[in-house]
Amino acid sequence: ALERTLSIIKPDAVAKNVIGQIYTRFEQAGLKVVAAKMKQLSRKEAEGFYAVHKERPFFNALVEFMISGPVMIQVLQGEGAIARNRELMGATNPKDAAPGTIRADFADSIDANAVHGSDAAETARMEIAYFFAETEVSPR
Ligand code: CMP
Repeated sequence: ALERTLSIIKPDAVAKNVIGQIYTRFEQAGLKVVAAKMKQLSRKEAEGFYAVHKERPFFNALVEFMISGPVMIQVLQGEGAIARNRELMGATNPKDAAPGTIRADFADSIDANAVHGSDAAETARMEIAYFFAETEVSPR
């Protein structure tokens, strides 16, 4: 099915100047950028976005990292976009990420892991709505 998913290029990858290389991977996999914004997240925004993780031991480090510099946030649209984006990203820990995936090629650690992508249809809807008004997402 045609899906939308939320993607974030994290501060480590923005600082490495690889936004374009990551966008090329999305495009070559048939994923279309239908909304995008660069943003410095506030602590409250980062905490709210990752609220499901707030009891996890890595929560504070995750929030600190996500506010350490600007992020590039986009909505990707395409056939099976949620799973396709997760295949492109590779495993959460770059040590486990398959060769040729974004995290294998650009990530340094499980915290500085280059990208975020929604994990399921319902989270994708919530995460897109967290950052974008419906009027900010291209209708096609
Ligand atoms: P992300 O997909 O953005 O979702 C939560 C983030 O927490 C994850 O990527 C990792 O960057 C970070 N994280 C740090 N430690 C862990 C861990 N042990 N398990 C899962 N995620 C972790």
